[in-house]
Amino acid sequence: MTLKKNFFVTTMLASAATAVSFLSAGAAQAQGALVMYCGVQEEWCRAMTTAFERETGIKVSMTRKSSGEIYAQVKAEAANPRADIWWGGTGDPHMQAAEENLTVDYKSPKLAELQDWAVRQWEQSKNKTVGIYSGALGFGYNTELIKSKGIEPKCWADLLDPKLKDEVQVADPNSSGTSYTLLATIIQLMGEDKGFEYLKALHKNINQYTKSGAAPAKAMALGETTVGIAFMHDIVTMVVDKAPVKVVAPCEGTGYEIGSMSIIKGAKNMDSAKKFYDWALTPDAQKLGAEAKSYQVPSNKNTPVPPQAPKLSEIKLINFDFAKYGSSDERKRLLSKWDNEVKNLPK
Ligand code: G6P
Repeated sequence: MTLKKNFFVTTMLASAATAVSFLSAGAAQAQGALVMYCGVQEEWCRAMTTAFERETGIKVSMTRKSSGEIYAQVKAEAANPRADIWWGGTGDPHMQAAEENLTVDYKSPKLAELQDWAVRQWEQSKNKTVGIYSGALGFGYNTELIKSKGIEPKCWADLLDPKLKDEVQVADPNSSGTSYTLLATIIQLMGEDKGFEYLKALHKNINQYTKSGAAPAKAMALGETTVGIAFMHDIVTMVVDKAPVKVVAPCEGTGYEIGSMSIIKGAKNMDSAKKFYDWALTPDAQKLGAEAKSYQVPSNKNTPVPPQAPKLSEIKLINFDFAKYGSSDERKRLLSKWDNEVKNLPK
């Protein structure tokens, strides 16, 4: 090759390279980005992030937090929102955010494929949040540690037994949707006065109010607490991992959650948020839950229900009033009442 020819080829290659890098910058921009606040277990959050990135080329920045914590962050950032989509966690703070105009209405083409309870959540929130999964609240116990206590709790009432002093763990309802579900469940089962009496009595047996709702299930599996109150599917995950743990559906009946998804008002990546929303309602995306050992009942009728998922039809479920307990005034009132009357009680 002559020097002249060589120069020509090099120049051509260089401009081709520039063109390619221009092209890929353009493509990256077209594919976009997505900022997600994720309210389920870390493993499932990560599986959703990776699968969505692979499927669409959209780069996801994901932060995992508990339900009440995400709500507080979305509210604090309302003037300059950082997140685009809030995926998962219990429905109550999603409902509260909807009422407070922190999220926007959206009708997904996938809505027709969803279970009635998921659509009802959407309707009750004026189309601002939708059900993505459901699961019942319960408790569990470590089968080794319970032996020395001489009881086998089957009912909510059994958790007040003095033999369980400092042996029960549950999350703080301010940060955790699981624990707020407990608060609302107990009130709906017993009435508000008796319900608060119950929670005050339970306080004597609590060893720790954790930040995250599933933490007591993990602590129970590790032998750090005898009893853990959590969603039954989170305790099933421990059983699947061969921990010495038994899952209990409380005899009096129990509440349940509608895990939800909302688009943040003022989202900077609105198109990506809608793309994620539609995709997250498909059976292919919802199947990732069971693969990540999260055994909720999925909201799309065509997503197979994991065989490990506690059977909602066999559990005595209360007629949970999601609109009332997700309303801004009621949620604020009950949380501050719990702070004042239960959390700081001496033991
Ligand atoms: C776990 C459960 C979810 C639930 C979530 C609530 O991840 O698997 O079903 O929605 O906890 O978390 P939180 O920490 O707010 O109680």
